[in-house]
Amino acid sequence: MEAIIRPDKESACLLTAKLIAKALRAKPDLVLGLATGSTMERVYEILAMMHRDEGLDFSGCRTFNLDEYVGLSGKDETSYRFYMNRHLFNRINIKPGNTHLPDGTAADLEAECARYEEKIAKSGGIDLQLLGIGQDGHIGFNEPLSALRSRTRVKPLTPETVRQNARYFKTPEDMPRRAITMGVGTILDSKRCVMLATGESKAAVIARALEGPITAMVSASALQLHPRCTIILDEKASAGLEMTEYYRWIFDNEPEWREFR
Ligand code: F6R
Repeated sequence: MEAIIRPDKESACLLTAKLIAKALRAKPDLVLGLATGSTMERVYEILAMMHRDEGLDFSGCRTFNLDEYVGLSGKDETSYRFYMNRHLFNRINIKPGNTHLPDGTAADLEAECARYEEKIAKSGGIDLQLLGIGQDGHIGFNEPLSALRSRTRVKPLTPETVRQNARYFKTPEDMPRRAITMGVGTILDSKRCVMLATGESKAAVIARALEGPITAMVSASALQLHPRCTIILDEKASAGLEMTEYYRWIFDNEPEWREFR
């Protein structure tokens, strides 16, 4: 695991987009795992700009999103399918058939979760998984006590997550209380993980996830088990960390990061 601290949200988002662009240029049929949420909006805007201005080519790219609300169809403006179309897919040259999210309206949700796992496996597995983090430590919608080896399944959302995301719905009661989410184990199977967290509201949970013990109470702490995981932070999100001098040294000195400095 490596933590990269950038001065502000914009440079953290830019670095995240550049890592994705680099992976896509190296492997045009990249299998890209995607996240939703407010943090990612700027990353997707930058990727759309890279497509428009630099010809970043998504025509061979295949995507799998982490999660979708149970009960919402892709036409619903608060669904994650709608979010992805609006913020990214409609603005790049990706083939719609290559974009995948769990179907929150499936009659048999358990079968839908199994189908999603199978689709990921058939694609050859996720090359790069983009992640955000909730204030309760969730990645995807793996709420506290999610098994560290869990697979795609239906997960009830915590009151804290409902409070955080209710702002997107007309009334808090409209927000679904359950979601289909890739499991922690599904995420850990990705070849590379890139997590982005910005703002002071994430500082406490970032400290627990990166420098605390691995625990099912903080799903993101499971990323400590991943052999190739990069955590990109702005100053504010890094404020609770102890080893910042070391993390900064890595970004400033390691050859891998030279092209991004
Ligand atoms: C949603 C997802 C979530 C979010 C997290 C942070 O697909 O993966 O784990 O990344 O809830 O959301 P924001 O960015 O809105 O703070």
